[in-house]
Amino acid sequence: MLDIAFARPSMPKSGALVLLTHEGEKPSGIWETADEATGGAITRAMQVAEFKGAKGKSVSILAPGSGLTRIVVIGLGKPAEVTEHGLQEAGGAAIAALSRDATATIATGTITSQQAADVAFGAVLKAYRFDRYRTKEKAEDKPKLAKLSVFAGDIVKARVAWESRKAVAEGVFLTRDLVSEPPNVLNPAEMAERCKKLTSLGLKVEVLGPKEMQKLGFGALLGVAQGSANEPRMVVMQWNGANGGRGKKGKPVAFIGKGVTFDTGGISIKPAGGMEDMKWDMAGAGTVVGLMAALAGRKAKVDAVGLVGLVENMPSGTAQRPGDVVKSYSGQTIEVINTDAEGRLVLADVIWYAQEKFDPTFMVDLATLTGAIIIGLGHEHAGMFSNDDALCQKLSAAGAATGEKVWRMPLNDEYDKQLRSEIADMKNIGGRPAGSITAAQFIQRFVNKKPWAHLDIAGMAWSGKDSPCTPKGATAFGVRLLNQLVADHYES
Ligand code: BES
Ligand code: MN
Ligand code: ZN
Repeated sequence: MLDIAFARPSMPKSGALVLLTHEGEKPSGIWETADEATGGAITRAMQVAEFKGAKGKSVSILAPGSGLTRIVVIGLGKPAEVTEHGLQEAGGAAIAALSRDATATIATGTITSQQAADVAFGAVLKAYRFDRYRTKEKAEDKPKLAKLSVFAGDIVKARVAWESRKAVAEGVFLTRDLVSEPPNVLNPAEMAERCKKLTSLGLKVEVLGPKEMQKLGFGALLGVAQGSANEPRMVVMQWNGANGGRGKKGKPVAFIGKGVTFDTGGISIKPAGGMEDMKWDMAGAGTVVGLMAALAGRKAKVDAVGLVGLVENMPSGTAQRPGDVVKSYSGQTIEVINTDAEGRLVLADVIWYAQEKFDPTFMVDLATLTGAIIIGLGHEHAGMFSNDDALCQKLSAAGAATGEKVWRMPLNDEYDKQLRSEIADMKNIGGRPAGSITAAQFIQRFVNKKPWAHLDIAGMAWSGKDSPCTPKGATAFGVRLLNQLVADHYES
């Protein structure tokens, strides 16, 4: 992770200088000093670029002679319109604007300690890279920035605010790493091993293998797993942070993730083009793991459980067939019409287990569940399906605050009828119309009178293009969203 320091405002002697300015703000302080040191170059550049401090706009100049390598001015927009997420994006924009600078300083006029931490948060998130498998990259092609200072009036307070943000960034990075790993490395057993490492953060981590799941009667999950040489796992992660982890345990909040470490489609095999993308079919699980790390890392005052179902969906002589009937842990039987609708089969058993074992106050599941949600919502919103209006409102608000946006979709009995089977309690697909909704209806059949929300993140887990706080690739969508949900409503 990029090294972050907080410092009292003073003119830096070297490295790059990033000035965050509000719309219409007049030069003062460091900005004025830097402008004088460069003979008015900042003012001239701003005039030429017609830069006035609007949000998302920036000007960059090389600054030899001043001792600085580069000066970047980034707009924050009107003071009244600055949000936490806007500051994070400004921090990310700073990283995007720097290139061969080894150190940088971010300066602003007035900024609270929390705001300074948010700028640092955005910068750190944007500076993420997954380069574990690059052995031939030249030094000059690797990012050079090693240290970033952010000005803050109260350094001690800024550090405290940063500790909490840093824990969330670490959770985001864990998720991005898991989602980026190739599928030959990250199979279910390996992902479970990485979950176990979270015990160092104070989480209780339990791993169930095929024998344990067989005993419990996880017929739906095991049916998906049976075609693969890689054994399935279920991982249960518990964080007890309410009342400092001491008091009587109340009901926890529960997060459940789809962890298909590779989805070939099984016997209903997918076409070859783009199939490599299905390495990130474990992103729902990856997000739950990163979220649990974030909550534990910042010692959130909440009791939370994270459960992930980890399987590989392969075609083979032992694979399940279209037409097979499996019995889920809930006791309900399922006719498997299409072996590529496997995520819902995995979630069915894990969700039922979460309820039986923990009786949670609410459940949120995350899954790269349907291609149809990408057709419906593109890459702007995750689909949100729920039986609880209050939970939806809280999730929508958390989405707006973090920039990880969700859009509610409908559920009702008419859609549910599309799942009727001639031979079993239900089929695992509902036909082409409303594919994301019938998938959610399927999951809802395993929700036992609990507030629940399902987030279909198929369009959000991976990005083909850079965005302000996220380089292209694994986004870790949901870690910030659900961390915010917990922070806003469920901490004692
Ligand atoms: N993992 C896929 C969904 C997906 C597709 C995620 C594209 C990300 C990008 C899921 O398991 C799947 O295959 N869904 C099928 C369901 C269908 C068979 C009813 C789909 O969306 O085509
Ligand atoms: Mn599939
Ligand atoms: Zn899948």
